[in-house]
Amino acid sequence: MANNTALLPLMIMVVISLVMALAEAKWAESVEARKEATATETVTNLQFYFHDTVSGKNPSAIRVAQAPATEKSPTLFGALLMADDPLTETPDPNSKLVGRAQGLYGSSGKQELGLIMAMSFAFTDGTYNGSTISIFGKNPAMHPVRELPVVGGTGVFRLARGYAIAKTHWFDGSGDAIVGYNVTVIY
Ligand SMILES: *[C@@H]1O[C@H](CO)[C@@H](O)[C@H](O)[C@H]1NC(C)=O
Ligand SMILES: *[C@@H]1O[C@H](CO)[C@@H](O)[C@H](O)[C@H]1NC(C)=O
Repeated sequence: MANNTALLPLMIMVVISLVMALAEAKWAESVEARKEATATETVTNLQFYFHDTVSGKNPSAIRVAQAPATEKSPTLFGALLMADDPLTETPDPNSKLVGRAQGLYGSSGKQELGLIMAMSFAFTDGTYNGSTISIFGKNPAMHPVRELPVVGGTGVFRLARGYAIAKTHWFDGSGDAIVGYNVTVIY
């Protein structure tokens, strides 16, 4: 009995140092795991065509709001549209559907026609089926080539960041457009 009591401080010290060593190993392990996660980041390039139809009986983008002065503005400043635009494999509207671009875009430039886009590109094909990327940024639609930020994603694209290069493929007086998208995402 007396012997055991004498050993107690020693045992406590052994236990404390064991716990400290374990905690350190755990921390090192989590740093290692984080490093590995960074090392396995994937860079993917996606190419597809965006079909925005504002004219006709079945538009894919409709004006949902505007300011009293919008109609008098040369850039339709203040007009806000809600879109559900098909994304296809080639510029042909009847080519394979790969997803839909759903969200809002509005006229945000008073001097120059410029759009602010807040859209979710939801993919419905192959390995990306059910995954989305979020695009938010300025789209100076009259420039032949624009760059838009990819600010996030879901599914395969969880934690995605990247950029989209948008090039007008076709545009007509009614406002309808077919735009080629080349998106680079890291996730
Ligand atoms: C995409 O996923 C949905 C839901 O899981 C499924 O119904 C559909 O068939 C899939 N489409 C393709 C092209 O794989
Ligand atoms: C798409 O973007 C990638 C990366 O910026 C580039 O390497 C590729 O050439 C582009 N493709 C087209 C068709 O523009």
